[in-house]
Formats: sequence, structure tokens, C-alpha cells
Amino acid sequence: MILKKTKIYIAGHRGMVGSSVWRILAAKGYSNLIGKTSKELDLKNQQAVLDFYNKEQPEVVIDAAAKVGGILANNDFPYQFLMENLQIQNNLIDGAHKADIKKFIFLGSSCIYPKFAPQPLKEEYLLTNSLEPTNEWYAIAKITGVKACESIRKQYNKEYVSLMPTNLYGSFDNFDLKSSHVLPAMLHKFHKAKINNHSEVILWGSGTPMREFLFVDDMAEAVVYALENNLPEYLYNIGTGKDITIKELAEIIQKVTGHQGKILWDTSKPDGTPRKLLDVSKIKELGWQYSTELEDGIKKTYLWFLDNIDTIKEIKL
Ligand SMILES: NC(=O)c1ccc[n+]([C@@H]2O[C@H](COP(=O)([O-])OP(=O)(O)OC[C@H]3O[C@@H](n4cnc5c(N)ncnc54)[C@H](OP(=O)(O)O)[C@@H]3O)[C@@H](O)[C@H]2O)c1
Repeated sequence: MILKKTKIYIAGHRGMVGSSVWRILAAKGYSNLIGKTSKELDLKNQQAVLDFYNKEQPEVVIDAAAKVGGILANNDFPYQFLMENLQIQNNLIDGAHKADIKKFIFLGSSCIYPKFAPQPLKEEYLLTNSLEPTNEWYAIAKITGVKACESIRKQYNKEYVSLMPTNLYGSFDNFDLKSSHVLPAMLHKFHKAKINNHSEVILWGSGTPMREFLFVDDMAEAVVYALENNLPEYLYNIGTGKDITIKELAEIIQKVTGHQGKILWDTSKPDGTPRKLLDVSKIKELGWQYSTELEDGIKKTYLWFLDNIDTIKEIKL
């Protein structure tokens, strides 16, 4: 049973998802939260993670720590995306199991599903076909994490569960144009074009792929839901269940940032998977669903971006 004084370790508590989970848990009165920066505790170091668990003895672990990045970063650093993610999650999951921690919430990503799986993507499509090559390194690590949690759950009857978020956006996102995901990268581009009075914005690809986006605080609410409830299955998709074209997304962002001018599409750049929409009926049937509509979430994100423009995170790879 989870109490407000239950000791909860949020791995990656300064990241976009982890910081949102922390804020929301603190606001709900959870008073025994712990977090360590990567400088204080390098999760790639197995012994350091075991020592940390033994010393702190958390009752629950929320794993929001990972090496995260967009197509370009995945393409340029395949070994780091595979190996660092494996190391981080293996140390966290196996360490938690050894320390007899009963509840573990693992965050993966919708890229674990096959490139050409039927849409919307159901949890049971996992491992039914090959992955999108541009991010298979990251996806294979995440699939391993899902399977590690599933096997512990099956063999030892512990509450180890995996949540697969769709594309997330919000405060504390990475807005660096080289390594970020599509939504924050576009927001940054349109903002720059607006302040520099550029009449044209050039975006990657054809604009036709369809994507789903979830506001990060809604994702954090899903984590809280998984924390407070004993979910019966090992894997749940977390999203809105609604998608839009990249072109429509660009138009919303252009409107929110107030940029006026043309959007040009650089079709020499890759599009990635044609459509990626999660089937969220499993978590919805249990009682969780999103609450922030896309345009509202983008407005909130843009306000945060403007407030933090001098200090926003840039991932150095
Ligand atoms: N962003 C998305 O659109 C998205 C979508 C689907 C799923 N997810 C999943 O959600 C989770 C969190 O993503 P995010 O967007 O919040 O990422 P993020 O903002 O990049 O944060 C990642 C966190 O991981 C920590 N970390 C990385 N390497 C570490 C290491 N070696 N030792 C200790 N800590 C380390 C970082 O800690 P420091 O800050 O202290 O360095 C950082 O706080 C990931 O599992 C990701 O796969 C994200």
C-alpha cells in the first residue's frame, strides 16, 4: 500500500518527465521523495546503484532516467543509445530486485513497436515485426527493460510495470535544434524565425507523417496512477489516442508562437515511421486518461520556453 510517507526514488528527477513526476507527487503531499543527479549517482555504475539502494532503501522506484534524443542523435550515436540505456535500466531494475523493492515503474517509449505494425498500436504488437531502423538502438534497450520487468513480475510476483508513453512535450524539454524531438525543435525554430523576422521556416520531411503528442504533466499523472494502483498487466500504452499530421502540428506551433510566413518542407530529409498512434484503451478501461489538449499544452510549453530561454537545456552529445 502506498502512503504519503512511502519512500519513493525518482531516477532522472531533473529530466522532463522525472521533474514533472516530482512536482506532481510533491503537490499531492508525497513527502519522502528522493532523487540524485547523474553527477551524484552515475546509473551506469552498477556498484554505485547497489550501494545507493542499500543505503536509502526506497520502497518504490520510478525510472525516468535514460539517454534520450531525436532521429539525428540516435543515428550519430547508436552505441551510446543502446549501451547506456541498457546499463542504466539494468542497474536500476536488477538492483531494485536484489534490494527487494516491491514496486518499480519503468518508462519506455512507443518506438518499441514494429515500424509497420497495424495502427493504433496495441501492447500485444510488441516483438511481432522489425523496428524503425533510425531508433532501433534505443528501442532494443527499452524492449529489454520491458522484458526485465515482465520477467520479475512473472517469476517473483512483484509489482514491476512498464508504461510506454507516446511523444511527450512540455516544460524542461530539450529544445536544442540538433538533438531534440520534433515538437520542441519546431517550437524553437518558429520562435527564432519570429524574433529574427524570417518569412520562411524550413522543416524536415514531407509533413505527412502522423504523430500523437502528450503533455508531460499528463504523463506524470499516469505515473501517479500506476503508483497508487496495482495494475494487472505488465505493459500499458500512455497517450491521448489521437494523432495529427506533422504539417498540422507545424501550423499550431506557428500560430502559438505568432510567426507569420511560409512553411517549407525539406523532403530530402527522412520522415521516419508514417504513422505512430498508441491504442490507449487498456489504461483507459482501468480509469486513467489524458486531460490537456494539444494547443493548450503547446501554449503552456511556449510560455515556459520564453521564461527559461536563457537557461534551457541543451544536450551535449
Ligand atoms: N521525451 C519524450 O518524448 C519521451 C517519450 C516517450 C518516452 N520517454 C521516456 O521517458 C523517460 C524520461 O525521458 P525525459 O524526456 O524526461 O528525458 P530527459 O529530460 O533527457 O531526462 C533524463 C534524465 O535521465 C538522467 N540520466 C541520464 N543518464 C544518466 C546517468 N548515467 N546517471 C544518472 N542519471 C542519468 C538525467 O539526469 P541528470 O539531469 O542529472 O543528468 C535526466 O534527468 C525516458 O525513459 C524516456 O525514454 C520520453
